[in-house]
Amino acid sequence: MSAGPSGRASSTCLRAADAIEHFVNSNSPIAGTVVWLTGLSGAGKSTIALALERELRQKHTPVYVLDGDKVRTGLCSDLGFSPEDRKENIRRIAEVARLFADAGLICVVAFISPYRSDRDRARAMLPAGKFIEVYLSTPLEVCEERDVKGLYAKARAGLVSDFTGISAPYEAPLRSELELRTDKLSLDQCVYQVVGLLTDRGALKS
Ligand code: ADX
Repeated sequence: MSAGPSGRASSTCLRAADAIEHFVNSNSPIAGTVVWLTGLSGAGKSTIALALERELRQKHTPVYVLDGDKVRTGLCSDLGFSPEDRKENIRRIAEVARLFADAGLICVVAFISPYRSDRDRARAMLPAGKFIEVYLSTPLEVCEERDVKGLYAKARAGLVSDFTGISAPYEAPLRSELELRTDKLSLDQCVYQVVGLLTDRGALKS
């Protein structure tokens, strides 16, 4: 781009380029945090993510929710539910979540993310303490009973293949920071526990 008479255009471009270079090369500590919600379909990940988003907004904390259903129609619309595709799905989500955390936000991630190795890879992308894994350990029977989208019935009938919990595995976390039974706790109690953890970690500005 050529400079205008005042040279303002080129100096603005230079400042933007500097900022981008700083952002990409910066070794400065990541300011935000990733809250990674994992659990079966129907466990309540999206519900908790949205309630948490509301609560954090009220506390004037910058927050962004990455949700399985939302992302799979856009960024990951080319992916299915084979182990390889889920691995790639989680890899992309982890990269995006890290960028949001790098920008100082709390990024709430709500994906089944059934494979331990995929979640551990996501964890390893963030500094210690900046990745909070929240396991929604609501039993399969409860999730299937809820069957909000009717997908469990279809999976049982063989109409949906590779369905987590029915015809594809779910590997429960071994070291999650928090475990929530959404069939035993109210939504408020779940959100309260996550906010408590974020507060303990110093992730919320007071
Ligand atoms: S993940 O395994 O790759 O993390 P993700 O969270 O993105 O899955 O997507 C899960 C959502 O996709 C479910 O809530 C459900 O609505 C839908 N879905 C469609 N097919 C499947 C399937 N075979 N297994 C699990 N979820 C499925």
